[in-house]
Amino acid sequence: MTAYPKSVRIVEVGPRDGLQNEKSNVSVEMRVKFIDMLSETGLKTIEAGAFVSPKWVPQMADTDKVYAAINKKSGVSYPVLVPNEKGMETAVTAGVKEIAVFAAASESFSKKNINCTIAESLERFKPVMAAAKEHGVKVRGYVSCVLGCPYEGEIAPAAVAKVARALYDMGCYEISLGDTIGAGTPLKTRAMLQAVKKSIPASALAVHFHDTYGQALANLLVALEEGIAVMDSAASGLGGCPYAKGASGNVATEDVLYMLDGMGIETGVDIAKVAAAGRFIAETLGRASASKAALALAAKS
Ligand code: HMG
Ligand code: MG
Repeated sequence: MTAYPKSVRIVEVGPRDGLQNEKSNVSVEMRVKFIDMLSETGLKTIEAGAFVSPKWVPQMADTDKVYAAINKKSGVSYPVLVPNEKGMETAVTAGVKEIAVFAAASESFSKKNINCTIAESLERFKPVMAAAKEHGVKVRGYVSCVLGCPYEGEIAPAAVAKVARALYDMGCYEISLGDTIGAGTPLKTRAMLQAVKKSIPASALAVHFHDTYGQALANLLVALEEGIAVMDSAASGLGGCPYAKGASGNVATEDVLYMLDGMGIETGVDIAKVAAAGRFIAETLGRASASKAALALAAKS
């Protein structure tokens, strides 16, 4: 019998990854309402936005206003993406308690997404990490393109392991492995995770799967088998990266919860409440939820 983790922590990325790729900018008021609804679901980590250049990603402008206005529930972390020292200064001024730095396993994606090489990005993160330490800010690290790159195609598991290890050595408490374009399939996922686990314990790893080809849940099952107990997802299956053309949303939080609930794996998160938050943001965007579980639950009620 395969031993699955007894519990999983879900990292809700809808308010950041979910909204950063939308054609229309969602107002501060609606972003705040979305996060406040998510805060009532039992989620322990909700990504609140990104302190990136508003010229590059206008959808994440005013993250400082969003962060100031949300109802910060005790025991819930609200991390914000930070690409450089300038973003870190904004984070410190805003009083953010957790940030996420983001690198890639692909040189071409790194250039397109943050306008520098992988090595340059890691250099840029050093002063960010020092400031985080000084101000008692927790740092999560992302690696993008772990199962494929929109510009380079296949990515070697060793390349993923190298960048993940560099972020871990720098002091990131957790490394989230991102299938940015959702190209991965189960056996490739296993090979990549086994390569990364050679130098980072599974307890410090998370997975972040986009669902472009409908493979995310199958890949998440493999991640569970590999002992990974932290999963990133977005309510209503929102998401995408403006610098990964054609990539669709993150795996839907409701779908992940339905799978984990059905397997008896604890999350502490109420699927009906997440579905309500997902419905709210989908309606705000003027479309139906991309979560199959949310649609099925709505049809039953
Ligand atoms: P750059 O143009 O090379 O930066 O961009 P620069 O240092 O030359 O500065 C240019 C201008 O940007 C200046 O303003 C700076 O002040 C400003 P100007 O003088 O022209 O008026 N600037 C900033 N403004 C606000 N906040 C900042 C900031 N930094 C500089 N932090 C930069 C480099 C990294 C800033 C840019 O490329 C950028 O913001 N990229 C962000 C891209 C992004 O957010 N992508 C999506 C998130 S990653 C993702 O989705 C993947 C993930 O989900 C995992 C997965 O799925 O794989 C995490
Ligand atoms: Mg993503």
